[in-house]
This record gives sequence, C-alpha cells and structure tokens, in this order.
Amino acid sequence: MSRVTTTLLREKKARKEKITMLTAYDYSTAVMVDQAGIDVILVGDSLGNVVLGYETTLPVTMDDMIHHTRAVARGTKNSLLVGDMPFLSYHISIPEAVRNAGRFIQEGGAQAVKLEGGEERVETIKAVLDAQIPVMGHIGLTPQSVHQFGGFKVQGKDVETARKLVRDAKALEAAGVFAIVLECVPAALAERITAEVSVPTIGIGAGPGCDGQVLVINDMLGLYGGFTPKFVKKYANLNPLILEALRQYKEEVESGAFPAAEHCFAINEEVLEKLY
Ligand code: KIV
Ligand code: NA
Repeated sequence: MSRVTTTLLREKKARKEKITMLTAYDYSTAVMVDQAGIDVILVGDSLGNVVLGYETTLPVTMDDMIHHTRAVARGTKNSLLVGDMPFLSYHISIPEAVRNAGRFIQEGGAQAVKLEGGEERVETIKAVLDAQIPVMGHIGLTPQSVHQFGGFKVQGKDVETARKLVRDAKALEAAGVFAIVLECVPAALAERITAEVSVPTIGIGAGPGCDGQVLVINDMLGLYGGFTPKFVKKYANLNPLILEALRQYKEEVESGAFPAAEHCFAINEEVLEKLY
C-alpha cells in the first residue's frame, strides 16, 4: 500500500467513497490507526485536552505539536499525516504562519497542516500553499475561538451564521485547501455545503452528509470516564477495562500474587553459592 495523498481524497469525493480520519498523539496509537487503514491521521491540538490535561486547546504550543507529530510520524506509513496548527502559530503574521506550517513538514514529518477559520484566513492559507504545503481548512465550532463564541456551541443555526459558513467553505475552496473539517454544524447544512464545494468535507458532529468523518481517538475508544460530546460514538469503552486492570495489578502486587514464576529469570544455583 502506498501513502494516501490529497489527490486520493478528492478522487474519493468524486467516487462518493467516504473518507476516514482519526486523531493520534503518540507512536503506538499511530501504528494501530495506520494498520487499520484510516485515510488521514490528524495530530490535533485536541492534544491539549486529552493528553496534556488543559481545559481548552489555547495553551498548546508549536513545540508541543512538533514533539507529538514526530512521534506519530514514526508510526505512520500509509495514512496521510496532518499537523494541526495551534493557537497563535498562524495569527500574528503571514511569514510566521508559513514558518510554523513548514516546521510540521520539515521537523514533524507531516504531509499537510490544518488551521482554523474561513474568509479571514484566506491570505494566510494562500501563503502556506505557496510554500508547497497542503492545507486542510476547519470551520464551524473552531475550538480556538471558544472565547469569541462564548462557549462550545453548534454553529450555523441561524441565517446569518449559516450564510457565513457557506461563504467560509467557498472561500476555503477558492483558496485551494484539499479538504474542510466541519465541526458541530447542523447535519442538513453540512450536507448542503458538501454538495456546493468540490473539495471533500470531513465532519465531526456534522452528520452523515459529509464526505468523511473524524473523531478524537480518546473519545471513540472510551478512554476517558468523564463528559463525552453528543456527536461521539464510543466504538470501545476502554476506561473501565483499564481501571480494572490497574486495580488488579495493585491487588496482586500487594498480595504477592504478581510476579509469578513465569515472570522471573532463573540463575544457576552454583552462582548463588559462590556469591559470598
Ligand atoms: O484537534 C482536533 O482533534 C481537531 C479535530 C477534532 C478535527 O481539530
Ligand atoms: Na484542532
């Protein structure tokens, strides 16, 4: 199998074949996602929430992202690897945005970057594309805008914001992005947008009418016991399994049941006799 390309994603949309995408933040997880044949692996800045324990994605830095992108790249052979540009890495100036996008490719080993925003990001996106770096767009509930939105809310429910989403999708398409993530958008609106742009849409909380789907891997594996958003389907519920394993380990170490003979290395008796 050869690596998934941005061209293949466009072809999939044309053939009406669904695109699959998941996040990963470390080597071992990336190996599994890659082995499962998922088209796109995103090293999301959701790293901040699910790996680093922040309440929002805003504290995540370029260095955090590069560190994890490198680990994921070492485990990825077939999936297209996309690095997620963190807050402030593409907002200050166009040269800084190009430099930071380039770090994902040159240091991180990614093949593309993703950044949040619509019309207001077109000039930045064009400059990154001009450096030969493919860009994935991301509109709807863009978590880096949480304070501007006043919370994590579904976007595009009224005429004004729905129109803005359509304009954003078209602006991103015209700028030349290879795909657009639609996050927390009403399903019928996401379907309309998907029909109106030639580039693939990848939904998260945006219904089945998108060209593909993405989920945060920790959410879909049920790795976390706390709040899970409505749009998440838990394909596994690993949290109770892991907790049970940890409790059993504690119990067996405390009782002496672990380690057993089969976990031990042997030594010739003579060596022990000659020890003192
Ligand atoms: O950071 C992330 O995981 C994302 C996806 C949810 C699209 O941006
Ligand atoms: Na993100």
